[in-house]
Amino acid sequence: MTEENEFPTKENENGEEPVTENITVETFDAELSATESPTLNYDAETAERVRKLAMPESRFDETSEVLLSIRNLQVYYKVGGGLFSAPKFVKAVDGVSLDIRKGETLGLVGESGCGKSTLGKAILRLTEPTGGQVYYNNRDLANLSQSAMRNERKNLQMIFQDPYASLNPRMNVGQIIGEPIRTFKISNGKSVDATVQNLMETVGMSRRFVKRYPHEFSGGQRQRIGIARALAVDPEFIVADEPISALDVSIQAQIMNLLEKLQTEKNLTYLFISHDLRAIRHLSDRVAVMYLGRIVELGNSKTVYRDPLMPYTKALISAVPVPDPEIEAKRERIILTGDVPSPINPPKGCHFHTRCPFAIAECKQIVPQLVEIKPKHFAACIRISPENPDIDENAKTGLGVIGN
Ligand SMILES: Nc1ncnc2c1ncn2[C@@H]1O[C@H](COP(=O)(O)OP(=O)(O)O)[C@@H](O)[C@H]1O
Ligand code: SF4
Ligand SMILES: [Mg+2]
Repeated sequence: MTEENEFPTKENENGEEPVTENITVETFDAELSATESPTLNYDAETAERVRKLAMPESRFDETSEVLLSIRNLQVYYKVGGGLFSAPKFVKAVDGVSLDIRKGETLGLVGESGCGKSTLGKAILRLTEPTGGQVYYNNRDLANLSQSAMRNERKNLQMIFQDPYASLNPRMNVGQIIGEPIRTFKISNGKSVDATVQNLMETVGMSRRFVKRYPHEFSGGQRQRIGIARALAVDPEFIVADEPISALDVSIQAQIMNLLEKLQTEKNLTYLFISHDLRAIRHLSDRVAVMYLGRIVELGNSKTVYRDPLMPYTKALISAVPVPDPEIEAKRERIILTGDVPSPINPPKGCHFHTRCPFAIAECKQIVPQLVEIKPKHFAACIRISPENPDIDENAKTGLGVIGN
C-alpha cells in the first residue's frame, strides 16, 4: 500500500477521476531521461510528452514580463562571537541577482547548505536580507516596512519541504487552510468553509477530511494541505522549497504534477528549490545553479542539462542516474573531490576552486562574474568566455583566462 492510499482519495470515495494522477514514476523517469536516451520505445502519449520536453526553445525569453527582480541580494548570518572573540558570518546568500519571469518556473539547484532556502526565504522576507533589493510591482520588498510587507505576503507564498513541521498540529485541515483566508479577509463566515472545501478539491483531497488533523494524514496528503494553504490567498508567486524531498518516491511525481497543473490553471510563477536535478529538470523552464551563496550558472533548463558550461554543473549533472542500463554503463561520471567548504570562511576568489579540476592560480584571487557565455546561458568562471566557451578545450590549450 502506498502512503497516498492510507485514506480514501476523491477517486475511491465517489468514483470520479483523481485530479493529479496522470503520471507514473516510470513515465516520470522516462521523461527525465529524454535527452540522453532518445531511442527508448515510448507509448504514444509518453512520446508526445517526451517530444515536448525535448524541445529546445523555452516558453520564456527576454521579452517576457519580469515579475521579480532580485539585485545583489545578501543574507549574512552572524555566528559565534563572544566576549573575547569577534563574530563570524555565514554568507548564506552572497550577492545574488536574478530576474524571475511571470508564469515561469525557475529551478534553483545546488548541494545542501549552499543557500537555496535562505535565498527563497529572503525574497519573501521570512529571513531578513543583509543587503540588496527585491523588486516586485515597482516596490523593493527587501526594504519595505514590516506592515507593508505583511500585505505583500498575500501575493507571495511558500511551500515547505516538511509539510508536517509547517502545519500547526493543533489545527484541523479546515482551520489550517481557512486561517490565511480570514487573516487577509478574503472571505468571511460560511463562505470561508466553501472556499476551503474548493481548495481541498483543487489539490486532490476529499472535502470530508476537513475536520481531520495533520497527524492523521500521509506525507503526500500533508503536502497537499500545505499547497492548499499557500493557494488560499490566491498568490502570484510561490517559493516551493524542496516540496517533494520528504516524500516517498511514488508520491513525488504526483505532487510535481499537481504543481504543474496549478501553475497552468492559476498562472503561477514558481521558484522551485531542490537538490534533486531530475525534479528540477522536470518542472523548470530555466535553472539557476548555486554554490556557496552565489549563482554560478543560469540558463534554459534543457540547455543547461544538455550543455552545462560550469565544471560544477557538469559534475552535478553527471551524477544523475539515467534509467537506461546501456547509456548508464557508457556515461562518464565526474566525481568532485573534497567536501563542500565551510560557508563561514569560504575559499577566496572562485568559491569552487578547492574542488575544481580546472582551477588555476587566478581562480584563487578573481571572483568570477556571471557572464552570458552563449545566448541566454550564463556562467561564472574565469576560464570560459563567449569566444572560448568549452572548458575542456580551454584546459587543453590553456585558453580562457581573462587578460590572456
Ligand atoms: N538561522 C541561521 N543561522 C545561522 N546559519 C544559518 C541559518 N540558516 C541557515 N544557515 C546556514 O546558511 C547556509 C545556507 O543554508 P540553507 O539556506 O539552509 O542552504 P540549503 O537550503 O541550500 O541547504 C548553511 O551553511 C546553513 O548552515
Ligand atoms: S573560475 Fe576557476 S575554479 Fe572556478 S569554476 Fe572556473 S576554472 Fe574552476
Ligand atoms: Mg534548504
